[in-house]
Amino acid sequence: MAVTCVFGMQWGDEGKGRIVDLLAAESDFVVRYQGGANAGHTVIVGEEKYVLHLLPSGVIQPSTINIIGNGVVVDPWTLMDEIDGLAKRGIDLQGRLFVSDRAHVVLPHHKTMDEALEALRGDGALGTTSRGIGPAYGDKSRRAGMRAADMLQPERYEEMLKANIGAWNAILDKAGMPPIDVASVIEEMRAIGERLRPYVADTTGMLLEAWQAGRTILAEGAQGFGLDVDHGSYPFVTSSTTGPAGVSAGCGLPPKALDRVIGIAKAYVTRVGAGPFPTHDKGPAGTQMAENGHEFGSTTGRPRDCGWFDAVLARRAALTQGVDAVALMKLDCLSGLDEIKLCTGYELDGERVDAPPAWAGDWERCTPVYESYKGWSEDLGGCRRFEDLPEAAQVYVRAVQAIMETPIEMISVGAERERFIPLSDGVPAEVQAQS
Ligand code: IMO
Ligand code: MG
Repeated sequence: MAVTCVFGMQWGDEGKGRIVDLLAAESDFVVRYQGGANAGHTVIVGEEKYVLHLLPSGVIQPSTINIIGNGVVVDPWTLMDEIDGLAKRGIDLQGRLFVSDRAHVVLPHHKTMDEALEALRGDGALGTTSRGIGPAYGDKSRRAGMRAADMLQPERYEEMLKANIGAWNAILDKAGMPPIDVASVIEEMRAIGERLRPYVADTTGMLLEAWQAGRTILAEGAQGFGLDVDHGSYPFVTSSTTGPAGVSAGCGLPPKALDRVIGIAKAYVTRVGAGPFPTHDKGPAGTQMAENGHEFGSTTGRPRDCGWFDAVLARRAALTQGVDAVALMKLDCLSGLDEIKLCTGYELDGERVDAPPAWAGDWERCTPVYESYKGWSEDLGGCRRFEDLPEAAQVYVRAVQAIMETPIEMISVGAERERFIPLSDGVPAEVQAQS
C-alpha cells in the first residue's frame, strides 16, 4: 500500500511505536503529522529500548526517510536531545530526517504557560504532559506562532515574539508567576535555530514527489482518538486531530492519497491525565493489568490508570476514522486474570448509550454495560498463530472484533519485534457466547 496511516483508537499509549517500527521495514518514508513531544513511542529491538517523543518511530529502521510534518509542534531542544541520543547509539539521522519549514515550534515559555494554565484550572486541571502543547497550538490557531522557517531568520521573529509574550505575561501575572523574559528567549532561540537549520525543508514537496513516484509512506499518529480535539473527551484532550483525518492537514498529502488506515487498540484500556474513563478498574484487576503491562507513562513517568476494553470508544474510532484493520496490542498482559470484561455500551440516567456523550461530565457519569469472559493463565509470548492462543483468549478476541465491526489483522503478544500474530483476513469467525 502506498500511503498507510497508523493511529491510536483509545487514550494514547496503545503501542503505536511498535507497529510503526514493524511497518517501517517496508516503508520508504515515515511521517509524524500531529502532536509534539507529549508522545512517548517505545520501540524494542533485541536488548535495546528506544523511547521517542518527537522523532518518527521509523528512525530505528536504517533505510527510512523520516519526516516531521507541518502539523507537529516541534520543541527544537527535545528534538536535538533525541537526535544526539540516537547518534550516541550509532544511529545517524543526517540526510534522513527532515522537519517541515511550516511546523510550529514549542518555545520554553509554552511549557511555562502549560504549567501556569494547569495551575489556574485548579480542580479542573487536565493533567497535561507539561510539554507546552496546548499553548503552542493555541499560538498557531490565533496566528501568533513561530514556525521552523522563522527560527532560521532571527530578524523576523523579534517583534512577533514581543507581542506574543506580552499576551502570555498577562496570564502569568494572574497565576502569580514571574513574567517571561523576551531577551533570554531570543538568545536561546538563536543557538537552537542554527542546530535545526540542516533539517528544515519543504517536506510537503518531498512527500508529494514521493507519493507521485509511488513510494511507500507511513503516517504515524500520536495520542489517540479519545484525546482527539474534536472527537475526544473535550476538554480532557490534546490539541490536535489525532486520526487519519489529520494526515492531509498535517503533512500536505491530499486526503485521497491515504490508501489504508490501521487502528491500534490495546486489549484493555489505559489513561493518564484527567477526564472520563468509565471502564477504569480501581480494584485488583486494574492493578494486575498495570503490573503486567508496565503501565507507566514513557513521557512523564506517571502511572497509567487501567480498565476494560471500551467498545463504545473503539467503535466510534473505527467508524469515524475509516479503520481498515485493527492491531490488538498487549493481549499477553491479560494473562492471569480470572475474568475479563468487555464494555459493550454505557448506561446514563437509566438509558442505554452507544456513543460517547458530547459533554465530558455526562461521559464521566456513564456506567459501563459489561459482557463477562473467562480469563486464561497461559503465557502468550510464544503464540504465532491464532490457533496457538488458549480457547478463552480466542473467544475474547473474536468478541472484540465483532463489536468493532472491523477486522483484527494483528495481535501483539509481547514487546519484542517477533512477538505478534498476523491475520491477513482478520480473526476467524464465530463468537461463542459466554456468560
Ligand atoms: P502517545 O503518543 C497518553 C494526554 C495527557 C493529558 C492530555 C493533554 O504516547 O500515545 P497534552 O500534554 O497533550 O496537552 O495533554 O493528553 N496525553 C497522552 N496520553 N499518550 C500520549 O501520547 C499522550 N499525549 C498526551 O496525559 O491527559
Ligand atoms: Mg505515551
